[in-house]
Amino acid sequence: MQLEQAESRIGELREELRRHDYLYYVRDRPEISDEAYDRLFHELKALEEAFPELVSEDSPTQRVGGSPLSSLPTVEHEAPMLSLDSGAEPAAVRKFDERLRKLLGDDLAYTLEPKLDGASIELVYDEGRLKRAATRGDGRTGEEVTANARTIPAVPLRLRGAGRPLPARLALRGEVIMRLGDFERLNERLLEQGREPFANPRNAAAGALRQLDPRLTAERPLDIFVYDILAASDDVGHAAQSEVLESLAAWGLKVNPLNRLARTVEEIEEAHRDLVERRDEIDYEIDGMVIKLDELAAREELGSTSHHPRWAFAFKFPPRREETRILKIVPSVGRTGVVTPVALMRPVEIGGVTVSRATLHNREEVARKDVREGDRVRVQRAGDVIPQVVERLPWPGKKRGPAFRMPDACPSCSTPLIERGPFTVCPNSFDCPAQLKGRILLLGWRGALDIEGLGEETARLLVEKGLVRHLPDLFDLRAEQLLELEGFAEKSASALIDGIERASHCDLDRFLFGLGIPEVGAATARDLARNFGSFGAVRRADAEALQQVSGVGPRMAEQITAFFGEPHNSEVLDQLLDGRIHVREVEPAAACEAGPLAGLRIVLTGGLERLTRSQAKELLEAHGAQVTSAVSRKTDYVVAGPDPGTKLAKAQDLGVAVLDEQGLLDLLAGHEIDPPE
Ligand code: IVH
Repeated sequence: MQLEQAESRIGELREELRRHDYLYYVRDRPEISDEAYDRLFHELKALEEAFPELVSEDSPTQRVGGSPLSSLPTVEHEAPMLSLDSGAEPAAVRKFDERLRKLLGDDLAYTLEPKLDGASIELVYDEGRLKRAATRGDGRTGEEVTANARTIPAVPLRLRGAGRPLPARLALRGEVIMRLGDFERLNERLLEQGREPFANPRNAAAGALRQLDPRLTAERPLDIFVYDILAASDDVGHAAQSEVLESLAAWGLKVNPLNRLARTVEEIEEAHRDLVERRDEIDYEIDGMVIKLDELAAREELGSTSHHPRWAFAFKFPPRREETRILKIVPSVGRTGVVTPVALMRPVEIGGVTVSRATLHNREEVARKDVREGDRVRVQRAGDVIPQVVERLPWPGKKRGPAFRMPDACPSCSTPLIERGPFTVCPNSFDCPAQLKGRILLLGWRGALDIEGLGEETARLLVEKGLVRHLPDLFDLRAEQLLELEGFAEKSASALIDGIERASHCDLDRFLFGLGIPEVGAATARDLARNFGSFGAVRRADAEALQQVSGVGPRMAEQITAFFGEPHNSEVLDQLLDGRIHVREVEPAAACEAGPLAGLRIVLTGGLERLTRSQAKELLEAHGAQVTSAVSRKTDYVVAGPDPGTKLAKAQDLGVAVLDEQGLLDLLAGHEIDPPE
């Protein structure tokens, strides 16, 4: 294809994909199947690969990009991001309304918007293109998170015209949220990886937004609602907030569908009651209703205090917290072997749901909160999330029970428990009945071996009916055995056996990921596979060798060696590899003979200017060098940009050669490697 032809097809594809992104992520009304979308996406991707000069920043293929940062830069907002005056009592709302009526007269209208419990964000568009995103920070300045915001599919990289004039520069405000289902799946995944779950969707959203590596943000399912224009270079002629919301929607931004208008305080109260009732049906967290004076000119008249505008008020919801008593604290083994102390409580109704169990997370948390059997406690429920014990309530004169102690052995398989940071863990990953179902699911999961037909229900049945007592049994299953299980017929049984058979020839990275080694996610599994090439090499690697892999720090290296060092795990792995699973080897990056930089170990630290960090990494690796994250005596060069951090000091300590960016370019030029334009 000629350049011109490619350019025109690329233009068409981008427009088409943008429209489908908008329909899917913003309007929730897709018009084409995922497969049809994927075809368009891949066609665009292939054309952009063939004509790299035609790649543009706002192409739908370019959402995830940029290299990890060492810290997030601070930026000043286009206009201050104020917070809201708030209260949960109707009396406070009446007072707010009365004050406005006194100043402005009786002909008032309010926009009522759900108060989204997420992370506030500023989005700046220049000529309709997303130029910057920042967290709220202290309201005047925040942290720049542009690369992260770009990964949120509902954030348009380009605004739509849609018949409304678009200001040349436009700063918007919205709330980044994580939906409850996504939040729960994320927490499950974290638990599967032996990591600490998030306490609530807000923390999860805020944490995802503030990642230093946009690839990590991209793995977190985030959504957004936009509700305000913070600043605009041109007057668009909006007279009211309701018109602002209409324009936002017309420009392709996601506006909350529950926003509405009210004229009286009675209507406000009714809408509030309505929203409280719907709170449990909504699949994201809201913690109140924001009441905003609709007319913009009148807002100007009222002005703001240094913290909040006088024209808005957050009518908060009653907290979803109640008091009750702990009857017993029992250790419960989760799917990843983490033993969680669970408080069994006198049942109490919180927001319409009866709660009788709450997690106490880990032994340190129990000690920090100092809760014991018999104590009175405050319990909180956030959405559908597992209830938590917030705090112990004083009970003067009451004699307290003994402090909780974790058992020494696993309550499910009696293996001696080990301590991993604040967590207590059963190390018998694959043979512990409490963990087996989760292990089967993870190994069969789409991102791992991708065993078709192996879902939650089947995994449960396989374990409960005793068909799989140890993980390797999964690969010895026969179709006749499956016929004993509820819901299986000949066709489905043989389909599952075929699925298992197909999956048993797998890629190294997928197998590593599927093992559920604590902290090893899909990206790390890929890096490990690329660096070591074979399962045996990963399994034998010591902590120092592991840390030569980009992204593997001392903590993760220790987790990996501990996992492989555990005798039960070793036994199961030997059985899996004994004809049950065939792991394909990959050519290890370090041994890539072809490249002129083969054998060189290079660490990148600090920012670069001419190249991005990921460009530098890709270029070096493409020519055979190994780019690692930890500096050791084996490191050949440390490339240090501005703000290099401790790695530079370590390099100097060990006497490792340090290059600046020009030095790196010279090294490349010396090997006749051209940097990208
Ligand atoms: S308006 C000057 N509207 O609630 C306007 N805020 O302190 C101030 N929030 O962190 C914000 N939903 O991020 C507004 N529909 C909504 C909101 C909303 C959530 C957050 C906001 C801020 C907090 C209020």
